[in-house]
Amino acid sequence: MPNKSSKLWSGRFSKKSAKLLSEFNDSLSFDKRLYKEDIEGSIAHAHGLSSAKVLTKKEASKIITTLKKIKSQIDKNGEKWFKENQNEDIHSAIENKLSSIIGDTGRKLHTGRSRNDQVATDIRLWTRNEIKEIILLLKKLRLTIINLSKKHYKTILPGYTHLQKAQAITLGHYLLAYEQKLKRDLERFTESIKRINVLPLGAGAVAGAGFKINRNLLATKLGFEKITENSIDAVSDRDFIAESLFNISLLGIHLSQWAEEMILWSTDEFNYITISDAYATGSSMMPQKKNPDIPELIRGKSGRFLGNLTAMLTVLKGLPMAYNKDLQEDKELIFDSVDQIKIILKITNEFLQNIKFNKEKMYKATQTGYLNATEVADYLTKKGIPFRSAHEITGKIIVYCIKNKKQLNNLTMDEWKRFNKEFNNDIIEKIKLESCVNTKKIHGGTAPEEVMKAVKRAEGK
Ligand code: ARG
Repeated sequence: MPNKSSKLWSGRFSKKSAKLLSEFNDSLSFDKRLYKEDIEGSIAHAHGLSSAKVLTKKEASKIITTLKKIKSQIDKNGEKWFKENQNEDIHSAIENKLSSIIGDTGRKLHTGRSRNDQVATDIRLWTRNEIKEIILLLKKLRLTIINLSKKHYKTILPGYTHLQKAQAITLGHYLLAYEQKLKRDLERFTESIKRINVLPLGAGAVAGAGFKINRNLLATKLGFEKITENSIDAVSDRDFIAESLFNISLLGIHLSQWAEEMILWSTDEFNYITISDAYATGSSMMPQKKNPDIPELIRGKSGRFLGNLTAMLTVLKGLPMAYNKDLQEDKELIFDSVDQIKIILKITNEFLQNIKFNKEKMYKATQTGYLNATEVADYLTKKGIPFRSAHEITGKIIVYCIKNKKQLNNLTMDEWKRFNKEFNNDIIEKIKLESCVNTKKIHGGTAPEEVMKAVKRAEGK
């Protein structure tokens, strides 16, 4: 009987592995996270072997009961269990443990299976479950954003292009821009499930298992929607990991854009938001400081997501068929990105719910910077002046205002008339910031009425 940490492939070898080989090659330190999925997959495989008459019903049930016992041992003792069962990887640790408990019956479990299709099954199960959790967290965050948009459907602030004040917008409209980005992220994650949720077990090492294992039965047991169509592809495919890493990266990038704005908006110069003390940090030297570490970390971690995606794609590039040990590199990348995006989604949700939006400061910021200049041009256009000419006339008015330190809304009627006779008293009303946002009554526009319609549409999905 082998000892509980022996290699699954020791038969052909006459020398003990070098210490450095094990240090370099072993993956238990990180793939131990797959123990539940590995046991789940093995239980399904035991059912498959029993249906193929490779195992008797009795043997299969002995294996299954013992695997469940091993699972509860690990559930209970975690780290201690892994220390006591040091092995090359999670698959070896569990299989060796099984054999050390039930002997030869346990040694039958790996019939018709390779660690190549086994690890592909484990990581697909794990990724599927985690992406489903990410979807739930993303839905919660999206809901928070929708609720905030509803609350601020008519709060006015400057909209920016080139980080220069451009036109007045409503805060609800701004928030819904992120709701749209997150909605697309949600769609991407949801669509990816159908490509992740495919069973590779039965592919064996490369050519397919040599036993009549009912793969559809295994798929049903493990909740997979389909089975893989080609054994070579099945053991070499990590597209679903690259795809998940991309989806996480893009979501991370969206959140980094928002984070950047939160950092700017919390500065003394902007002061559009006040971050709750519970979600800010201080300085060890400067007593007055309150730092936006949360959005800064979100911005920073988006770089890390891109790094993980790039690393995965680079591992895959030029890799010959079929399984190669390079593929072991997939795990730490996907584990890390999933862990980080989950905590980001949770903290972003709480952070947002605890922000104070400084409405007066936002409104005041719209009073300077000529955010209503486009409305002046539009006003003249509506009087029959071609837009290009109206644009030029308005440009001249702005130069005049800058020179005379005036805003558009404190020009006298006399001054307006000097630039064009079409200006009448109603221009004063038309260039009020409230009027400016109210006129954007177009599907997808910033008018409060449209923001409420957009909220309703978002709530409907
Ligand atoms: N630890 C390996 C991995 O993560 C498991 C598969 C090993 N297969 C093999 N033929 N050595 O990819």
